[in-house]
Amino acid sequence: MAKLHLITYGCQMNEYDSERVAGLLRERQYELTDDAAAADVILVNTCAIREKAEDKVFSKLGELRRLKAGRPDLVIGVMGCMAQLQQGMVLRRAPQVDLVFGSPAIARVAELVERARREPRPVLETGEAPLVKITAKPPSAARLKAFVTVMEGCEKHCTFCVVPRTRGRERSHPPAAIVAEIEGLVAEGCREVTLLGQTVNAYGRDLTPPTDLAELFARVNDVAGLERIRFTTSNPYNLTPRLIRAMREVPKVCEWFHLPLQSGSDRVLERMNRGYTRARYLELVDALREAEPAMAFSTDIIVGFPGETEADFAATLEVVERVAFDNVFVFRYSRRPGTPAATMPEQVADDVKADRNRRVLEVAQRVGAARSAHLRGRTMEVLVDGASRRSTGELSGRTRCNRVVNFDGQGRAAVGDVVHVRVTDALPHSLRGMLTTPEEAVCWSK
Ligand code: 5AD
Repeated sequence: MAKLHLITYGCQMNEYDSERVAGLLRERQYELTDDAAAADVILVNTCAIREKAEDKVFSKLGELRRLKAGRPDLVIGVMGCMAQLQQGMVLRRAPQVDLVFGSPAIARVAELVERARREPRPVLETGEAPLVKITAKPPSAARLKAFVTVMEGCEKHCTFCVVPRTRGRERSHPPAAIVAEIEGLVAEGCREVTLLGQTVNAYGRDLTPPTDLAELFARVNDVAGLERIRFTTSNPYNLTPRLIRAMREVPKVCEWFHLPLQSGSDRVLERMNRGYTRARYLELVDALREAEPAMAFSTDIIVGFPGETEADFAATLEVVERVAFDNVFVFRYSRRPGTPAATMPEQVADDVKADRNRRVLEVAQRVGAARSAHLRGRTMEVLVDGASRRSTGELSGRTRCNRVVNFDGQGRAAVGDVVHVRVTDALPHSLRGMLTTPEEAVCWSK
């Protein structure tokens, strides 16, 4: 067997894509190795969302170049978003690369790798291709939680974002193919799926007949043995009353919503072309909390978008405070080639971005800690997913609202169980708790 080494950067969809690649190549007798030096083929799955992501890839490619110097037969491939967007730059800055292909070409990875091994010149494949559901998985893929891509692409055209250029138009997988994939995962022991899409709540409108995420929830909910459904990422613009209702009514859908805000200032939201206002965002949060009081929110925020003033930024802080997010991911605005915001005047200085980054995190940590403290004393449903990172003998899992909980469950609970834990302590990054009434806990494994 030939040996394949995979290096993955970026989002969950990239992780999912890498798994598919491993699965497809396994069918052609490639076996995965953790050791780059032992590999015949190395594929780097890349991210282009921010400049930093690209820098990481180039420094990795620099390392691989040294490896290849001693082993001229080694094939190095670059795949994913940066490959799609910047194939010219990849080949210029990393001439040792033998293969460059974008995510639409993943279905043909085996053929591309074979060509790259044969042909002396680099193989380039960055065209559009029809969407195919790839179900090939590496043999090690059996696990408790899995990502499942339900749609690809994005047509939102936010002015800061490169994704419409890297992942193409919106294309949804048919519900039957998604359900079949999830049934397969559950048969191998999976208990929780996260449905993935760049604008996952726009799911299904391109299908004939059209469908939506609410309908997909209902279908996936019927998969026996599955415990939990999560989904990411949603855009407030497409958030329908039907989806809000489904979050309340479909039992396996968890009370956790990742809803990128990006900015709390209407002026900035408009310049970002986000399609909603601050008031609309808050209205959605209220509607979701009304439908499901336990709903936890996480969000993405960009600081230092071109033209963002101190007043705009203050408006963002206010929304963070008002929503009381459980978790906030903050990004400094990064100019992306070919996007409208990259050429806007009034680019914000790096030190201002750094300062705003720090200030959002401060507020986010404070409101997040208050949310955690609020959970103290409550009994929560936990899916046990492993041993606690800290101490041996302790188990760890997540609540439906996506919090990490560590608890002493030795001998009374095992990985894969759904148990009830009473929260005794709220630490900065996790909760601590005690197993309650184990005899009443729902344990699928027994
Ligand atoms: N600069 C900084 N952050 C960005 N994001 C997307 N594009 C950019 C950019 N050009 C952030 C957004 C998005 C998350 C995945 O990455 O907040 O929700």
